[in-house]
Amino acid sequence: MCGIMGYIGDRDTTKVILEGLAKHEYRGYDSAGIAVIKDNKISELRTIGRVSALAERVAKEHFTGDFGIGHTRWATHGGVTENNAHPHVSSDNRVVLVHNGIIENAREIRADLEAHGIKFHTETDTESAVQYLGYVYAGDPKAAIVKLTKRIRGAFALVIMFYDKPNEIWVARKGSPLVVGHAENEGFCASDPTALLEYTRDVWFMDDDEMAQITKEGCKFFDFNGAEHPKESMHLDWDAAMTNRGAYPHFMLKEIHEQPEVVAHTLLGRVAGESVDLSKELGWTKEDAAKWRKIHFIACGTSHYATVVAAHIMETLGNFEIRTEVASEYRYRNIPIDEETLAVFVSQSGETADTLHAARLAKERGAKCLVITNVRGSTIHREVGEALITPAGPEIGVAATKTFTAQMTVLTLLGLYLAKLRGDLKPDTERRLTAALMDIPGKLATMLSKEKEIEALARDFADARGFFFIGRGLAYPPALEGALKLKEISYLHAEAYPAGEMKHGPIALLDKELPVVALVPKNALWEKTISNIEESMARKSPIIAIATEGDGEIGHYTKHVIFTPETEPELFPFIAIIPLQLFAYYIARQRGCDIDMPRNLAKSVTVE
Ligand code: F6R
Repeated sequence: MCGIMGYIGDRDTTKVILEGLAKHEYRGYDSAGIAVIKDNKISELRTIGRVSALAERVAKEHFTGDFGIGHTRWATHGGVTENNAHPHVSSDNRVVLVHNGIIENAREIRADLEAHGIKFHTETDTESAVQYLGYVYAGDPKAAIVKLTKRIRGAFALVIMFYDKPNEIWVARKGSPLVVGHAENEGFCASDPTALLEYTRDVWFMDDDEMAQITKEGCKFFDFNGAEHPKESMHLDWDAAMTNRGAYPHFMLKEIHEQPEVVAHTLLGRVAGESVDLSKELGWTKEDAAKWRKIHFIACGTSHYATVVAAHIMETLGNFEIRTEVASEYRYRNIPIDEETLAVFVSQSGETADTLHAARLAKERGAKCLVITNVRGSTIHREVGEALITPAGPEIGVAATKTFTAQMTVLTLLGLYLAKLRGDLKPDTERRLTAALMDIPGKLATMLSKEKEIEALARDFADARGFFFIGRGLAYPPALEGALKLKEISYLHAEAYPAGEMKHGPIALLDKELPVVALVPKNALWEKTISNIEESMARKSPIIAIATEGDGEIGHYTKHVIFTPETEPELFPFIAIIPLQLFAYYIARQRGCDIDMPRNLAKSVTVE
């Protein structure tokens, strides 16, 4: 997915860029590079590996310049080599750029330019853009970029410098995130606004088909025909301290520990007394709510699992016709979407290409669209318009944790609010669930106090061949998320099944090396799940149980039990996810994995 950082100003340019790139590493970390301009000369330095490797070379080679751009790469076109790492420079050494996205017609542009005698040096799609710019540049950056935007197809966030423009960085965006910032006498651009928090909170999120010129004096915005337009900046309410790890060894662990506070914060202003009120954020009437007969939840990965929790909860609250769909499938199926559909898009980053495209489709078909996102001003937020923000603060660990609990919280409130607007919600249910939600932060803190116990359990199981996760009803969605966390960061195979489904096939895989993590809260389905535990035990699978405090019988089945405090049955996923996140974290740590930046993954997936 790649991360981009650009700086122009009086600070130490390479320091600002390297620090900014380090904050983007979750977006890609197979190679990194930096380019600066000094005395009308472009110099660049690239390396495979992490930003820290680049920083070492920058220090060793005393690499400095007046202003510059940097990139951390997640390879799409062309292998992970120093040569393919960005920035890329045109053969005539007049233009340098970094790119996030994919240029779909790169081959065709390359063939054209090669026919004009231009030599290419890399296997990347990006090089076609920089060589094209070099070819058309005649002293006017804007005119050259206008030509480029008409020539290339695909998705791009481009940050460009021209050798003879010592006070200008140019950016252009279509489909890949890019944010521009300005403070007194200095300008910035980045893929992720958190990289700018240290310097400025007032930013401009670039729109599609928009370009900008950044100078020390300010920023100017243009469309792809070169016409200038005014643009409002947006104030970020995140705190720069949130982007530091503090004393925690990993961001993931820090973010797991932030969850009690995040849930409390998410409820703030949305629950008053024992009543849910989202009217400050959603201008919906009873008539609107009555009209939306179909509720579609569309998301990817962890955000999708939060919607699976929401669907289970909402089914208990009212007469909803609900679908939960993975975004990459939603848009390619013939799902009936119309004015009677409320389409809820859930995306932590607000930049996920699959979810964005699904939102465009639903909007086109006349659905009422709502986004739940952690990033105010993100692309999906701006395109959908109406939003419920999860105030979890920046999530840096690639594996989503605190944003999952924030999403579940917002989605539960949304379900309650919708059911209330439609006249389905029983006052008792509202009182019971809002009171239980207010107790969740305390219960999460109780779960977090069991960290040592969970760490010890993880130590016992770190050599397992893989894991099955099982649960019934509302214990199933957290099983899905627990399995996803484990496979993402420990690289162990982990699958979740509705407990009753095991015997229809997956049970064939069970043996003493494949432990089963059974989510077995004390509820109406307890006995049924216990039967599935027994079936697993009969195949010699070790059992790890997540059970309710006070369950005196679970000890007959396994000695590996993590007890969770009692809560209302609907809210079990909130509590169950904490031990599963910690379990995944400590297994990965035992196995020496790179927890905050797992291999092959990127936090924000801006390609389809
Ligand atoms: C898992 C994870 C991913 C994301 C998915 C959607 O830990 O982080 O599965 O949940 O890529 O991302 P967003 O929510 O940003 O749309």
